[in-house]
Amino acid sequence: MKTRPFHIFFRFFSISILLFSFSCNKTETKDYTIGFAQTGVNDEWRRAMNQSMKIQTSLYSNVELIILDGEDNIENQIQDIEELIAKNVDVLIVSPVKSQPITPIVEKAFNKGIPVLIVDRKTEGQNYTAYLGGDNYQVGVDAANYLASLSNERKKVVEIRGLSGSSPALERSIGFKTTIEKNDNLEIVKSIEGNWESYSIKDSLSKVLNEIKDIDYVFAHNDRMVLGAWEVAKEKNLHNKIGFVGVDGLPGENGGIKLVQDNVLLATILYPTGGDEAIRLAMKILNGESVPKNNLLETTVIDFRNADIMWNQFNKINQQQQDILKQQSTIDKQEETYSSQTNILKLLLGLLITSILLGAYSIYSGYNIKKQKRALELQNKKITIQRNQIKKIAEKVKISNEAKVNFFTGLSHEFKTPITLILSSVESLSDNKLIRDNKLVQEVGLIYNNSKRLLRLINQLLDFRKIEDRKFVLKASETNLFDFTNTVFKDFEREAQKRNISFSINCNNKSLKVYLDRNLMDKVYFNLLSNAFKFTPNNGSISIDIKDDFESNYVTIHFKDSGIGIPNQELNNVFKAFYQGTNNNKSSSGIGLHLSKEFIDLHKGTIEVFSKHGAEFVLTLYKGNAHLNSDEIIYLPDVVDSAVLSFNVDYEEDIFNQDAVLNDDERYSILIIEDNPDLVKYLKGKLTQEYSVHVSDGSNGVEMALGLIPDIIICDVNLPDKTGFEICDILKKDLRTSHIPTVILTALNDKESYIKGLESGADLYLTKPFSFAILSQSIKTLIYNREKLRYYFVNNVHNIDTSHFGPLEQEFISKVNKIINDNLDNSKFSVENLASKLNISRIQLYRKMKAIMDVNVSDYIQNIRLEKAKILLQDSQLTISEIAYATGFSSPNYFSTSFKGKFNKSPKAFREE
Ligand code: FRU
Repeated sequence: MKTRPFHIFFRFFSISILLFSFSCNKTETKDYTIGFAQTGVNDEWRRAMNQSMKIQTSLYSNVELIILDGEDNIENQIQDIEELIAKNVDVLIVSPVKSQPITPIVEKAFNKGIPVLIVDRKTEGQNYTAYLGGDNYQVGVDAANYLASLSNERKKVVEIRGLSGSSPALERSIGFKTTIEKNDNLEIVKSIEGNWESYSIKDSLSKVLNEIKDIDYVFAHNDRMVLGAWEVAKEKNLHNKIGFVGVDGLPGENGGIKLVQDNVLLATILYPTGGDEAIRLAMKILNGESVPKNNLLETTVIDFRNADIMWNQFNKINQQQQDILKQQSTIDKQEETYSSQTNILKLLLGLLITSILLGAYSIYSGYNIKKQKRALELQNKKITIQRNQIKKIAEKVKISNEAKVNFFTGLSHEFKTPITLILSSVESLSDNKLIRDNKLVQEVGLIYNNSKRLLRLINQLLDFRKIEDRKFVLKASETNLFDFTNTVFKDFEREAQKRNISFSINCNNKSLKVYLDRNLMDKVYFNLLSNAFKFTPNNGSISIDIKDDFESNYVTIHFKDSGIGIPNQELNNVFKAFYQGTNNNKSSSGIGLHLSKEFIDLHKGTIEVFSKHGAEFVLTLYKGNAHLNSDEIIYLPDVVDSAVLSFNVDYEEDIFNQDAVLNDDERYSILIIEDNPDLVKYLKGKLTQEYSVHVSDGSNGVEMALGLIPDIIICDVNLPDKTGFEICDILKKDLRTSHIPTVILTALNDKESYIKGLESGADLYLTKPFSFAILSQSIKTLIYNREKLRYYFVNNVHNIDTSHFGPLEQEFISKVNKIINDNLDNSKFSVENLASKLNISRIQLYRKMKAIMDVNVSDYIQNIRLEKAKILLQDSQLTISEIAYATGFSSPNYFSTSFKGKFNKSPKAFREE
C-alpha cells in the first residue's frame, strides 16, 4: 500500500518519457527503400542519371534511395543486387552491365516478390516488372535517316558499336543497319566494335582509315566513342573531310550538344538517362498502381539547327534542378529546425506533464502525510496515556516490590541474630568439657551443622538480592591458590572419611598466587563441594585439581565427582537462577550455582560444567591483577566473615577458663550497646568473668559512654534511637571518648556498610553471626594495642610524638600542653583550672589522661614544670629560687624536694654537674 503513490507517479513519468522519445525518433524512419544497382559511375551520362534519381527521390520524404556502383563489372553488379535483396528493398532498379549474365540474379529478386525495374539496358526474357529507357532502335533509325538527308550522292559510312552483349548496342545497330539498307546512297563500309569508351575504338578505327581512304561519315553508338573517332581522324588530318554523328546529347562542357556547337559533330541523337522517370515509375509500383511493362523514352536529333536551343533548355533545366536542390536543402534545414523545435516543444510538454504529475503527487502525498501525521499524533497520545498508566503501575509495583524485598531482606537479617546466638551457644556447648555423652555430642553437632546450613541459605538469599541489585564489588587480594583451596578442602575431609569417599587435591604449582575475593570464592568452593558431596554416593570419589597453565595467563580448577552427573540437555541451564535438575530429588534453593557463576564473573573468570561419568565443574581464573579495576583490589587484610569459619576454630583455652574473678576496678570496662536482650545476655555472660561489663539498650549509648569512659565499646548497628554508625561517629568526634576502641556488630556485610563503619571511626567491624572466640580475641588485641601506646606515653611523657594519636587526641594533648606551659609560673594553676579551660569535667580529664597516657593529671603538670626547670638549670643564669618561681613552685624548698624526688638530685647538685 505504502509504495503505491510512488508506483503511479513513476508510471506516469515513464509514459511521458516514452511518448517523448517515440516522437523524437519518428522523423528518422522511412517508409520505403528503393535500391538501384548502377552499371558504373565512370562517365557523365551515369552521373547525370544518378543525380536526376536523387533529385526526384528527395521529393518523397518517406523514401530512401540506395545506389550501389557496379564499376562496369558483372561480378560486382551481381553482388550489389544480392546485397539489395538482403536489405529487403521495396523496389529494385537495375541497369545491367550486360544482358545475359545479369538476368539470373534479376529473376531471383523478381521471384522473391521484389518489384524489379530495368533501366537503360535490358535483361533477357520477361522476368521483371517493367523496363524504362530510350528507344535504342529508334536511335539507330534517326542516325541513319539524318545521314541520308545530308546528300544525294552515295556515301561511305563506318559504324562504331557499343559493348557487345548490351541491349542498346544491339538495338542501335539493328535500327541503323536496317535504315541504311533501305537507302541506296549510304553504304556501311566497316562496323567496328567498342566498349562505350573512346580508347576502345581508336586502334581499329585508325586501321580502317588507313585502309579506306574516302570515308564520308562515322556513326558511333555514343558521344564518348565518336569524340575518340574524331581525334583519330584529326591526327590523320581527315577530320574536316569526315562527318561525325554520336549518341547521348548530354549538356555540359564535354557533352554532345557542345560538340555539335563546336562543329566537331554533325549531330548527336538525344538518349535521355530517364533517372527521374525511373523513380516516378518506382513510386507508382510502390503505390500499387499498374504500370506498363515497356516504357520507352523519346529521342531526337540534335544538329547545328537546334543545338543552341537544346543547350539553353538544358541549362534552364539544370538551373531549375539546382534551384530545386537549394529549395530542398532549405526545406531540409527548415524541417530540421521544425523537428528540433518540435522536440523541444515535446520535451517542454513532457516536463510540463511531469511537473503537473509531481505537483499532483506532492498535493496527494501532502494530504497523505497530514493524514498519517494526525493518525500518528493520535497514536502518540494513546501511547503517552498508556505509558503514563504503565509508569504508574510500574511505580506501584516497584514500591510494593521494594516493600516486599525490604521485608524479605529485613527478615533475613533478623534471622541472623538468633542464628548467631544458636551457633555461639553451640560453640560453647561443644567446648564444654562436661559434655562427654556421645549422643549429646552428636546432637550438638547436628544442631551446629543445621544452624550453619540455615545460615548459609540466608546468606545465599541475601547474596542473591545483592547480585540482583548489582551491589557486589570485588575485594580481591593476592592469595596462595593451593593454600586457600586446601583450607576449604580440609573442611570436607571429615565428611569424605565418614562416607568413604576418595577425596583428593592435586596442584601443579603450589606457590601460585592469584587475586581472589576470598569471601566470595569461599562461597563458590563451598557450593561446588557441597553439591559434589550431595550427589556422590558413598564409596565414590571427588577430586580438586589445580592446573596452572604455565604457557598462558590463566589457571583452571577442576572439581570432579563420580555422582549422578547432569543430563546433557540441561548443562546449559545449571547456572540459571532457581534451576532444579530433573534427575535428582534432593531439595535445593536453585541459586547456589547461579551465585557461583555471578561471583566467578565478578572475577572476570569462567565457570563451565561437563558431565560424563559424574559432573565436572571447571573454573578458569586469570593470573595477576591486570584484569581487575583498582577499586577491586584490596591490600588490607580481608574482613573476617565468621560465617565461613569451620566448626573447629581453635579457641584460646584461657578465655573460657578464667576462674579468678577480678574486682571491677582492676578489670577493663566494656560498654555493650545492643538492644537484643538475648545477645546482651549471651555477651554479658561470656564477658563478665574478665571485664567490667556495662550495657546500654541503645537509647542512651552516647550518654553512658561519656559517663563511663569505658576501655572498649561494643555497639550494634540496628538500634532504636541512633544507628551504631551514628553513635560511633559521635563518640569518635568527642574528645572525651575519641580514644575508646569501638567494635561494630552488624548483620550487614555489604561493602557500603563496611565503608560506613570505617568512616564512623570504628576500630573493628564484625558481621553477624560472629564467633565469640574472634570477638574475644579482637577485644584483647584492641586493649593490648591501647596498652602498648600507653606504655609508650608513660615512658616518653615529656617527649611525646603526638603522631601516634588520633587527630582528636593530638589536638587534645597540644591543648593540654599549651595551657600548662602558659601557666607554668602560676603556682596556683590546678587540675580544675586545666579541666575548665578544656571545657570538660575534672573527672573526665582525669579519665581521658589515664586512658590515653595512663598518667595522673597533677603528676603530668608537675612533670612539665620539673622538665622545664631542668632545662633552665642547664641553660639559664637564673638563680634556683628564680627558676622555682618561674616554673610555678610556691617555694624554693618545695621545688628542691620535688626535683630531688624525680631526678634523685637536688637542683643545686644538678647545676654543678
Ligand atoms: C553510358 C553509355 C551511354 C550510352 C549508354 C548505353 O554508360 O555508354 O553513353 O548511350 O551507356 O547503355
